[in-house]
Amino acid sequence: MAKPLNILIVSSECTPFAKTGGMGDVVGSLPVFLKKLGHDVRIVIPKYSFINDKKHWIKPALKKMNVQMGNVLEQCSVFSTALNEIVPVYLIEYHEFYDRAGIYHDSEFNDYDDNPKRFAFLSKAALQLCSEIKFIPDVIHANDWHTAVIPAYLKKLFKNDPVLGKTASVLTIHNIAYQGRYSKYYYNYTGLPKEDFTSEKFECFGAVNFLKGGIHYADMVNTVSHGYATETRTLAGGYGMDYFLNIKGANYIGILNGADYSVWDPATDKLIPANYSPIDLKGKHICKKALQKQLGLRQLARTPVIGIISRFVEQKGLYILSECIENIIHNMNVQFAILGAGDRQLETYFGSLPQQHAGKIGCHVGYDNELAHLIEAGSDFFLMPSLYEPCGLNQIYSMKYGTIPIIRATGGLDETVENYNHDTGEGTGFKFQDPDGKAVYNIIELSLHTYFKMKPHFKKLIQNAMKQCFSWEDSAAEYVRLYMRAIENRSYTGDSTLLQQHLQI
Ligand code: ADP
Ligand code: GLC
Repeated sequence: MAKPLNILIVSSECTPFAKTGGMGDVVGSLPVFLKKLGHDVRIVIPKYSFINDKKHWIKPALKKMNVQMGNVLEQCSVFSTALNEIVPVYLIEYHEFYDRAGIYHDSEFNDYDDNPKRFAFLSKAALQLCSEIKFIPDVIHANDWHTAVIPAYLKKLFKNDPVLGKTASVLTIHNIAYQGRYSKYYYNYTGLPKEDFTSEKFECFGAVNFLKGGIHYADMVNTVSHGYATETRTLAGGYGMDYFLNIKGANYIGILNGADYSVWDPATDKLIPANYSPIDLKGKHICKKALQKQLGLRQLARTPVIGIISRFVEQKGLYILSECIENIIHNMNVQFAILGAGDRQLETYFGSLPQQHAGKIGCHVGYDNELAHLIEAGSDFFLMPSLYEPCGLNQIYSMKYGTIPIIRATGGLDETVENYNHDTGEGTGFKFQDPDGKAVYNIIELSLHTYFKMKPHFKKLIQNAMKQCFSWEDSAAEYVRLYMRAIENRSYTGDSTLLQQHLQI
């Protein structure tokens, strides 16, 4: 192995401590695999007050740490624990910012007004921590807009720092729609110089845009599938960042997420009522029964169940499902098991369906990890009609559980699922293209036809799906190569923007 790297990963989420979606899963699993490859990897996250210290063996690490934010000197404490007992995790305690019920928003899904301050502070505190504990990272890995200010900090505020002066940066874009655009007044709090508040860096239509500044300053930028890397370079998929990603040239790439099969595998999953494997699916039937019971669905073993686990947001295509779900229930022999929370309108709509279609649609509005595992295991199909999907983890998990994905062919969904072939029975799921209710209706009709009328094919689909392996081993090795390239870019000029220009020519 090449020289082991010192890697610091900074994030607003990390499973099992704090998670709203897939980024938490990624930050909670990739480091474990990097560690297994021999690297010294450490994680920094906020110490949200809802994290249970006892359950996670969290201990004080630094009583007092000063963090300069613009002209304000903030003071916080640092705690520590270990992820999977091997990866050190530092938690920044700052009551004013992190003693809240949620990560990004209150229980009414209103974003906290001071989110730009909360996460700029996390970013700066993570850098300060390196000096305090004398950890010299070769690379710092930032995730999404929340920590996207780190690359600029390294190049502007820490360029002559004895600890961080040579540190390279990587920015992973998990979702380009979330850019951290806020009033320009928040820019002062970052402490970055005024010269960086320009339209190629942090300024965007008069506001501050954290992701944009991160894209500019990071030595390497990546996203979570190859397909999404291509989509985000276009006007339609770039949400205004396409131009800036295009000028990154070869310094912007896609790396497909992995799955943590120590958590998401029906053979070992501790959260489901019965385990099972491709050679013996009896446990899956038990899980289906338990799921139907828990969500008030009729106990019909031969009626297929379509599972959905989703943040209720525009991206996930639930509005197009709402156009057709009642027709589907009316015309087809099928049940739905739905779990999600977010958009109030979607919560009200999907939350009211079980009353109107008793026994045929079950829905739990909320966040429930145990139920998520049961839906993966107990459903026959898993539906993701996303308008766009950077990677998507649930379709990857569902294949392992022999739960056939029905997906819109976009981003990471398209990349990870192979469409069913009517002639040969090959494939791992069902794909559709058009983002409308009619397409969802038709693909569900085709999926159910295969389930009921093409039984040998459906069995084969299950076997094929369960064989798929999107393990982190391969993706972690790709991240190491990404880190190496970032380090190379950093040392090339000390300012990778020059290298980017060089690559453009
Ligand atoms: P995204 O990150 O866009 O939400 P992913 O498919 O990458 O989509 O990951 C979603 C992750 O969050 C999965 O682990 C999924 O099980 C979990 N999840 C989403 N909504 C809920 C919920 N309401 N309750 C429990 N887990 C959820
Ligand atoms: C984002 C994306 C999702 C991806 C996850 C982890 O939340 O919406 O597609 O799987 O990040 O990278």
